[in-house]
Amino acid sequence: MKKYTEIKDISNLSEVIKEAILLKMQPFEFSELGKHKNLVMLFFNASLRTRLSTEKAARNLGMHVSILNVNDAWNIEFEDGSIMNANSSEHIKEAAQVISQYADIIAVRAFPTLTDKAKDASEYILKSFLKYASVPIVNMESAMAHPMQALADAITITELSEKPKPKVVLSWAPHPRALPQAVANSFVEMMQKMDVDLTITHPEGYELDKNITKNTPINHNQKEALKDADFVYVKNWSNFEQYGKVLNQDPNWMMTQEKLGNAKFMHCLPVRRNVVVEDAVLDGKNSVVIKQANNRTFAAQVVLKHILEHK
Ligand code: CP
Repeated sequence: MKKYTEIKDISNLSEVIKEAILLKMQPFEFSELGKHKNLVMLFFNASLRTRLSTEKAARNLGMHVSILNVNDAWNIEFEDGSIMNANSSEHIKEAAQVISQYADIIAVRAFPTLTDKAKDASEYILKSFLKYASVPIVNMESAMAHPMQALADAITITELSEKPKPKVVLSWAPHPRALPQAVANSFVEMMQKMDVDLTITHPEGYELDKNITKNTPINHNQKEALKDADFVYVKNWSNFEQYGKVLNQDPNWMMTQEKLGNAKFMHCLPVRRNVVVEDAVLDGKNSVVIKQANNRTFAAQVVLKHILEHK
């Protein structure tokens, strides 16, 4: 693997999932692979899981890790040809080349603006690192995608499925703030590559990008969609058409124990209790969110391993 900025960078998903599960059993088997190599993690936005799990994954492989909260550094300019007489002090052209001298792999987290759809869709931060850095890039959640989360989700479903082809439902949930579509986008893309029966349910008007959902069934009736589900992945996203707007906070879309039935409950976390999902679900035996978060380490580890092996 030359990089991991999108799910398409995985050429053999089932093999990668198997390898991640083996790494979970033997996390230090390749602890020499990353010796004298440095992972630089750049955070334009907050993180708990991504930061700690990716650091742990890198250390399991023997790597050193440098972490920079980009807001603590100089403001980076991304526009080509801009006259930098305002707030930006450093251009991505220099920044990416300089960081590349300190890194063997650069991992980037950069959320969308949720105000400028075209700018967000261009993935200008991630793409600028891809253009100007001279080392492999890993996406730790960009404007439109969270492929590392999706790989952890795929590992979790593979480990916990009791059927060859489980029914998986992605259900929108209410949230008071505007959230990105990234997790939902990558989950849909990942499930389309797996042998699962995927259905999406959300209120009318909350369609994700049709280039991502393609032919995946969408049912605006949540109760109908959830029927016979084996895994229910709950996630809020803000409106994609009326970009970044919160047009619906209907509490009837919150996931409850009654709606979940016997299905396993998934969420990428962090999650707002009793807004997105009721306590009884999160505290119940069918919640797999903690296992899911644990798999973030082995998703990151298998990705870093493949990139180190390619170098
Ligand atoms: N799921 C996830 O990416 O969590 P963090 O935002 O805490 O990294």
